[in-house]
Amino acid sequence: MTPIRVKSAKNFSGQIDLPLDKSIAQRAFILGLPTNNGLFGEDITSTKKAVSESNSDQAKKDLFLGNSGTGIRLLTGFLSGIGKSFTLSGDKSLNSRPMARIADPLNLMGANISLTNGKAPIEINPARLKDEFSYVMPVASAQLKSSLLLAALNARTKIEILEPTETRNHTELMLLHLEAGLKIEKTDKGNLISLDGAKGYKEKPIFVPGDFSSASFFIALGLLAPDSKLFIPNVGLNSTRIAFLQLLKEMEAQIEIKNKRIKNRELMADLVVQSSKINLKSVPNYLVPNLIDEIPILSVIAAFSDGKLKLEGIGELRVKESNRLEAIQEILSTLGVEYYQENDSLEITGAGKHFTFDGGSFNSFGDHRIAMCAAISAVRSTGEVLIDDIESIVTSFPNFFSNLERLGFKLINL
Ligand code: S3P
Repeated sequence: MTPIRVKSAKNFSGQIDLPLDKSIAQRAFILGLPTNNGLFGEDITSTKKAVSESNSDQAKKDLFLGNSGTGIRLLTGFLSGIGKSFTLSGDKSLNSRPMARIADPLNLMGANISLTNGKAPIEINPARLKDEFSYVMPVASAQLKSSLLLAALNARTKIEILEPTETRNHTELMLLHLEAGLKIEKTDKGNLISLDGAKGYKEKPIFVPGDFSSASFFIALGLLAPDSKLFIPNVGLNSTRIAFLQLLKEMEAQIEIKNKRIKNRELMADLVVQSSKINLKSVPNYLVPNLIDEIPILSVIAAFSDGKLKLEGIGELRVKESNRLEAIQEILSTLGVEYYQENDSLEITGAGKHFTFDGGSFNSFGDHRIAMCAAISAVRSTGEVLIDDIESIVTSFPNFFSNLERLGFKLINL
C-alpha cells in the first residue's frame, strides 16, 4: 500500500504529457508491430513481455498479464488456435474478472480453453479453430470483439461478428491499415464486422497517440480548476472513444480541439481546456461503451457542476479493475454530493460550479482510475485529500503525479 496526501495548486496553466494509448499499443505489440517511443503504463509492458514469452521455445508457457484485462483477453484469443499450450493469469484484480465472455465463444470457434471458476488462470490447450464462424456479441465489449478477431486472424479463420452496440474500433482500424481482409458494414442491427484470417496482414509501423482515457483526468482538472488553462498535446481522438469529450462540449465545457491529424487511420489532435460551468444532462445508453473508462471521472465533474447527470446501462462498471459502480458511490459520499443508484443506473445531482468540499480520505479500491479521480477532486477541496493507495496508477499513467507536480500540486508520501 502506498498512501499519499494531495494539496492542490490554485490558478495554474501548463502542458500535460500523456502516456501512450494503452488500447492501441497493446494491439500493436500483440501483432508484433514496431511503434514510436513514448512513456508506457505497466499494462502495456506486461502485454509486451507476455507476447515475447509466447514466442519463445520454452515448453512451459506461463504468461503473466499483471492488471491488464485487454492484455489477457486479446492475447488469449490470439494464441487460442495456433496448436500450442499456454496458461495466462494476472494479479488479484485481473484473476477476479469474468473470462467466460471470451472463453465461451472461442471454444465454440473450436478452441480448447479452460478457466478457473469462470476466471483466470486461463488454460489454452492445443486446438485447431473452425474454418468459418459467426457470432452476435451478447455484451458490448471491445475486448471480446478483438479477442475473436485476433483469434481468427492468427488461425486463418473466416469470422463474422455482429456488434449491436458499437464499441471501440482500434482493432478494426489497425487491421484495415495493415491491409488484412477486414470489412465493416453498418446494418440496422449494428456493425457487421467480417474478417478473412487467411488473407493475413502486412507488418507496418504503428504511431501510438497519447491516451484519451488518461487525458480525461486532466480535461476534468482544467474544467474544475478556477482560472486555469491546460494544453494537452497529441491526444488520440478515435470517434469510438470520445463521447466524454463530445458530451462535455454539449454541456458547455470550454475545450478547443486543434491541429487534427490522422495516423494509421486514428485521429489525433491537441486540446486546450479552460475553467467552465458545466450544465449536466442525461447520457444516452448507446454511448456508454464509448465512455466506459471515463465514467468515474465524469462523475467527479458532475459533482461540481449544475443540473443532473443521468447514466443508465452501466452494469459493466462492476467488472472493471474494481467494482467501479461501488467505488464511484464512495467518492460521491466523500465529496458530500447527492446521488441515486438503482440497478444499472446512477443519477448524480451536481452541487454547482462553486461547490467545494472539506477534504477527506479516499479508498482507491486498488484501481488506477479511482485513485486518479480522488487526486483530481483535490482541486475543489478546502482541506486535505488522502488516498489510501496509489500503486495502481502506474498501470496506465506512470507520469500522472509528475504532471500534477509541474502544475504546482504538493504530494506528501505518508
Ligand atoms: C478496452 C476495452 C474496454 C475498456 C478497457 C480497454 C480495449 O473494455 O474498458 O479499458 O482496449 O479494448 P471492455 O471491452 O471489456 O468494455
